Amino acid sequence: MRVLVTRSIAEEGMTLLQEAGLEIDLWEEEGPIPTDTLRARAASCQGVLSMLTDPIDAALLDAGPIRAVAQHAVGVDNIDLAACSARGVGVSHTPGVLTAATADLAMALLLGVGRRLREGDALVRGGGFLGWAPTLLRGVDLEGARLGIVGWGRIGKAVARRAEAFGMEVVHHSRSSGIPLDTLLGTSDVVSLHCPLTADTRHLLDAAALGRMKPGALLINTARGPVVDEAALVDALDSGHLGGAGLDVYEDEPAVHPGLLGRDDVLLMPHLGSATWGTRRRMARMAAGDLIAMLGGHPAAHPVPLPA
Ligand code: GLV
Ligand code: GLV
Repeated sequence: MRVLVTRSIAEEGMTLLQEAGLEIDLWEEEGPIPTDTLRARAASCQGVLSMLTDPIDAALLDAGPIRAVAQHAVGVDNIDLAACSARGVGVSHTPGVLTAATADLAMALLLGVGRRLREGDALVRGGGFLGWAPTLLRGVDLEGARLGIVGWGRIGKAVARRAEAFGMEVVHHSRSSGIPLDTLLGTSDVVSLHCPLTADTRHLLDAAALGRMKPGALLINTARGPVVDEAALVDALDSGHLGGAGLDVYEDEPAVHPGLLGRDDVLLMPHLGSATWGTRRRMARMAAGDLIAMLGGHPAAHPVPLPA
């Protein structure tokens, strides 16, 4: 059986696929595999080990004998789950193994924006540091500040534990628990997004929602770009309503709204939430193991529930 691996992954995952006797078609070039190439190459494969940048849609599934999709990510918004369900295609993902790494990055962005690391680093490198000064680059106090977490899954809870260690007061909002979103937005000094991207969460933070945030509040997004209306975010920063933003994801990745690029009060990361050595090893092993299981006719250990 033949599998398409759409991006170079940690060696451990490739070894598992080889040991299982699978024939591997690996996309090794720079950048995500173009959609046409993805479809063309998937047409001769039973399995795909997919990235969050790969549209896995009906056209791809209908092009060939695909039976299983193992996503090398926890988020699966790039996969048409209804189309997979209708064709009996199994889908797995990598939950749990990237929780700590992603929560760490959310805290890094929170600390980085709150304490103005970008401006401080630039000042030192630019020769502008003239000595300690009582009014130099003052940032926000985290102790006693309120952190509003949107999405109360594994990652949101892991961020809450970290924030509590910094003395922050944590509130949350999700579909099934916590406080109403408007209350969270109106009372939080920092809002951090940890919900999946779905039809319900697309532009959850639109102009109106951003307008309800506290003046000077910070927004952290390590979830998915389209949860935020990026143009509205630029407006909210330009008007001075928001105090800053820490972003790991973008509405039209890898494009970034030009209005964000010149700002000193935003910290911009290239989708690095799960990017640690250990996490990426675990993700590769998990995705490979589940692809092997599904192609062998067994249930994946980390299945994505499919709509009926
Ligand atoms: C990364 O964004 C993931 O969903 O794993
Ligand atoms: C992801 O692991 C989540 O459930 O937040």
